[in-house]
Amino acid sequence: MTTSRAVEVLPSPEQLDRWLHAQVWFRGRGPVECSQVTFLRDGDPVLVHVVLACDGRRYQLLLGVRDELPERLVHAQIGTAGDRPVYEAVYDPELTAVLLDHFEASSEVADLRFRGALAPRYTAAPVGRPFSGPQRNRSIVYGQRHVLKFFRELTPGDNPELVLLTALDSVEDPHIARPQGALETDLDGVRTTLAVLNEFVPLGALGWPMATASVRDFLAVPGDDPAAAGGDFAAEAHRLGRAVARVHADLRTTLGDQVAGPDDEAEFVSAMHSRLDAALAEVPRLEEFEAGLRARFDAVLETAGPIRLQRVHGDLHLGQVLRSPRAWVLVDFEGVPHGDAVERSRPRPAAYDVATVLRSLHYAAAQLLVGADDVDALLPLAARWLGRNRTAFCDGYSEVSADLRRDDVLLTAVELDRAVLEVRHENRFRPEWTVIPLSAIAEVVTGEPVWTA
Ligand SMILES: Nc1ncnc2c1ncn2[C@@H]1O[C@H](COP(=O)(O)OP(=O)(O)O)[C@@H](O)[C@H]1O
Ligand SMILES: [Mg+2]
Repeated sequence: MTTSRAVEVLPSPEQLDRWLHAQVWFRGRGPVECSQVTFLRDGDPVLVHVVLACDGRRYQLLLGVRDELPERLVHAQIGTAGDRPVYEAVYDPELTAVLLDHFEASSEVADLRFRGALAPRYTAAPVGRPFSGPQRNRSIVYGQRHVLKFFRELTPGDNPELVLLTALDSVEDPHIARPQGALETDLDGVRTTLAVLNEFVPLGALGWPMATASVRDFLAVPGDDPAAAGGDFAAEAHRLGRAVARVHADLRTTLGDQVAGPDDEAEFVSAMHSRLDAALAEVPRLEEFEAGLRARFDAVLETAGPIRLQRVHGDLHLGQVLRSPRAWVLVDFEGVPHGDAVERSRPRPAAYDVATVLRSLHYAAAQLLVGADDVDALLPLAARWLGRNRTAFCDGYSEVSADLRRDDVLLTAVELDRAVLEVRHENRFRPEWTVIPLSAIAEVVTGEPVWTA
């Protein structure tokens, strides 16, 4: 659908191709087609929203076009349309402001629908700049007021982030950033979320730097009691446990839960075996733990109680939780990374999120050992920090929701399943870190804290 008007604002296909293939989030190889081009502002600068298709995947892009590119936007240039520079619009506050205006007006522009519930503005609009921290998608932060997240890759349907945050907001869950709007269109005839607008959580600190600072502090002082170290994290881990349990309880209240039937349980266990097969094919070092892993997966069918399934966060770790002065806030409710729509919305055991947080605590404790000379001395200390914070997290969780440690067969299996995925991922992208999940697996299978490096 590249109309003549679109030609006036799109970079040449060669320029767009070159730029896209240099982006880490772009997974396409074949030719790129611009399947939907929407003008959100005319004149100078122009703002256009583009849906791209490549190799059966869909992406979106916000483009700005100007007669002349000021120095501060040169780094964002993608190419030229005629002789006008085309650039990534998120870097241009004049254009990010247009998006917020559309939300305030609940505009419909061609096939794009801005659905907003913004309070009337009494002062000038906050400036919208791209979020500069680690992210998978593309977020624009408006002052201390809003975060507008555009999903890089588009999946037809309502995004779980919108569905879950809306449900949690309906019961005033205190552990979320309140949803304030969404940008939607239709893809393949299905209503599809392009972006979500959420309340900005001011003064938030991510769980990961907090936890790793605590580990560092504990290791820096002589002594083997993490409670006595200045940066003890256990009180925060405890509060985080309560927060996750509250979110789980509110998801059950709003979106329901069910007992898994025998077929679902069998499928659940067989999926763990398949993920292990895939990891074994790439990481032969896993072989020595194969029997132990398979036995713990099978134990779920034999010994675990009936599995209850519900909507969960799906990608919960210390990098997805923000400690605001008011509470722990869980962000990024998109579900399992790289999953298709069904996978991302699939009801799972609550143990799934708990297991991924426990894995993340293990990472926080163990990352300091990677490449360290004095692993033998550090290992027991890391284990002590981990033990204290795992217990604190699970204690907090069990104050608000059922204690998942009671069904430790299920929790252990899910944790091991996650570690298997991590082994495969680390081996591909960060081989020196493979030792972390491998050690966690070795520890469960052998019953001893070990470092497999
Ligand atoms: N509502 C919010 N308030 C403040 N910061 C936020 C908010 N939502 C996200 N962030 C910050 O932006 C980062 C990326 O957001 P996230 O939703 O995880 O996007 P992505 O899908 O790109 O990972 C988070 O790690 C957090 O630091
Ligand atoms: Mg994230």
